[in-house]
Amino acid sequence: MTGWTTADVPDQHGRTVIVTGANSGLGVAATRVLAVAGAKVIMACRDQDRARSAAATVDGDTEVRRLDLADLSSVRAFADGLDGDAEVDVLINNAGVMAVPKGTTADGFERHIGTNHLGPFALTGLLIDRVRDRVVTVTSGLHRLGRIRGDLNNDLNWEHRRYQRWPAYAQSKLANLLFAYELERRLSAADRRTISVAAHPGVAATEGMRRDTSLQGKLLAGGPAQSPEMGALPILYAATAPGVAGGTCVGPDGFAQRNGYPTLVRSSRASRDTGSAARLWARSEDLTGVRYAIGPV
Ligand SMILES: NC(=O)c1ccc[n+]([C@@H]2O[C@H](COP(=O)([O-])OP(=O)(O)OC[C@H]3O[C@@H](n4cnc5c(N)ncnc54)[C@H](OP(=O)(O)O)[C@@H]3O)[C@@H](O)[C@H]2O)c1
Repeated sequence: MTGWTTADVPDQHGRTVIVTGANSGLGVAATRVLAVAGAKVIMACRDQDRARSAAATVDGDTEVRRLDLADLSSVRAFADGLDGDAEVDVLINNAGVMAVPKGTTADGFERHIGTNHLGPFALTGLLIDRVRDRVVTVTSGLHRLGRIRGDLNNDLNWEHRRYQRWPAYAQSKLANLLFAYELERRLSAADRRTISVAAHPGVAATEGMRRDTSLQGKLLAGGPAQSPEMGALPILYAATAPGVAGGTCVGPDGFAQRNGYPTLVRSSRASRDTGSAARLWARSEDLTGVRYAIGPV
């Protein structure tokens, strides 16, 4: 698999792909490749002006739609607004915030867990019956620093711990993996054709990465970064390569998974904890009010 590039993306004509956060960084890099390969890309973005400017740089069939993952009413409106009969081949849960100051989403969730996990959890649940091929969820190598405190009823919203922005980001990225793997278990138990795959870009120079200039940020996310185009490759591989197995994670093949070409990578032991995944799923359903038709294994 090493050396896989955009030249290896199969023909995407006739396929529809939703990319969240498609106006910036990895999202727009992936969108460009998918559109050139023939896909219709629904660019699901919170800011319509930024999204339209980005769409103008894409060569191919795009449609801009409003989606604010930090607001469940917007998530519902996005799902309701899709054409009733429209099938989606791939949903790429890419959008995310990184190491932002303490704050809450419209629904009162801590910003990282709300935007990066609970919003995509709700979105995927509302769309899962019409996603034909796969759901790709973008995580981070920093999931390894994440902790979900089962003893504190998960404490997803940081009510019982002193808030720290990178651990809050890491918790949300661990949640991405627990979600992606649990979704695969449920899809497979329900005999669905749709698969769930996780991907992470390594370290890529995007707006999100540049925003936190603290020492902690430099230590955790600093060092040489690859281009957004290289960072998007694992996402593109997860979204398009034939034969990708559900329940896997695709990342870069270089040193410490920081850069390189797409390959299957191992994620932390905590990310593969099925008990933790089941608890997170139940809590996420309670918090979002979105219940999946596919039950627990
Ligand atoms: N870059 C890296 O090295 C790296 C490493 C590991 C993982 N990742 C992951 O890669 C993904 C993409 O990040 P990036 O590096 O490309 O950063 P980015 O350039 O900041 O892009 C993030 C995207 O998410 C969107 N977004 C943020 N909050 C949103 C919300 N409430 N609703 C809808 N969209 C929202 C942003 O929209 P606006 O433009 O409106 O803000 C933007 O389009 C994230 O999930 C991130 O955790 C990145």
